[in-house]
Amino acid sequence: VTQPTTAGQTARIAVLPGDGIGPEVTAVAVRLLQAAGFRGTFTEHPVGWSEWCARGEALPAATLQACRDADAVLFGAITSKPQAAANAEIVAHLRGTVRYRSPILRLRQELDLYANVRPAAGHGADLVTFRENTEGLYAGHEQRPTTQELARLFPGLEPGPDTAVSLRVITRKGMARICEAAFRFAEANGRRRVTLVEKPNVLRATGGLALEVFREVAARHPAVRADDENIDATCARLATRPQGYDVLVATNLFGDIVSDIAAEVTGGLPLAASANLGDRHALFEPVHGSAPDIAGQGIANPLGAVSAAAMLARHVGQAAVGERLDRAVAALVSERRSLPRDMGGAATTAQVEAALLAQLDGLRAMNAA
Ligand code: IPM
Ligand code: MG
Repeated sequence: VTQPTTAGQTARIAVLPGDGIGPEVTAVAVRLLQAAGFRGTFTEHPVGWSEWCARGEALPAATLQACRDADAVLFGAITSKPQAAANAEIVAHLRGTVRYRSPILRLRQELDLYANVRPAAGHGADLVTFRENTEGLYAGHEQRPTTQELARLFPGLEPGPDTAVSLRVITRKGMARICEAAFRFAEANGRRRVTLVEKPNVLRATGGLALEVFREVAARHPAVRADDENIDATCARLATRPQGYDVLVATNLFGDIVSDIAAEVTGGLPLAASANLGDRHALFEPVHGSAPDIAGQGIANPLGAVSAAAMLARHVGQAAVGERLDRAVAALVSERRSLPRDMGGAATTAQVEAALLAQLDGLRAMNAA
């Protein structure tokens, strides 16, 4: 995983607001970064549903290039709809000529952001999920209708439109690098335990390889306790006793699921942020979606985006900025002050931003005194 940029440098940040509430929450996050003393430049690039509808490409090539050229990417949220809706809403002259692909999934693959790091702390628990981000059931190898050719490979499979297949691809390389990232993180942060969340008793080929590689990597990190659990057992325990876990590592879809549960049981998805890290690039995003139903009403919750901005600041070597943003968010949450609707309050986006800015001013005053 990428090493943080040297402290003191100015960072080039590509901002991809996306659609729905994405633009509202990323705008707040950028202003908060600036107010917290972030040294860097921000350039906005289009991505998402409107790009798809107008041009048939939700992730324009220029946007992808801008992400490659940046030190880090701040991503808002995007709307993804099933293929039928995608075909219905695209501009008429492109209809039927292109297929919709989710820009966030493409960004993760194109930039090889193999580690999706999702911290979730609260209610006495402090978990970090390391979700493999480039393969597994997200590899994109799917078939419907299924072909005769596939049926020859898998006897008993009835080909045709009523049988569908999504291939779960696990590789030694993919598994080794996500496990390495999890154990290194554990060592660097004084964490005691890394748990692989899998299902090797049923998914013998893919789960079996995942477990084998996990154990090999664990053997190289003897100071950290390593164990493995079946995903169903982990989900049940996470729901009742999340305090029992420390660092979780999982393949793509399992990590998607357990990180949502972890966020929910430790205080809620509305606050959750995640880092998508590769060896060369890094992208930070709130975990929540684009919430098109409340877009443009000024009531979106910006705290997830601000938490993502805090992770970004730390990543580019500006840890003090990250600390300030995290403390401002934590103050609102612990005092239950100026909270947005999805967290049980009544504050508008602007009111949450004002409260965060006041909190930053308060911190500055304290430091100056
Ligand atoms: C996430 C989301 C995405 C995923 C969706 C929006 C494609 O659920 O970041 O967890 O499945 O990875
Ligand atoms: Mg998800």
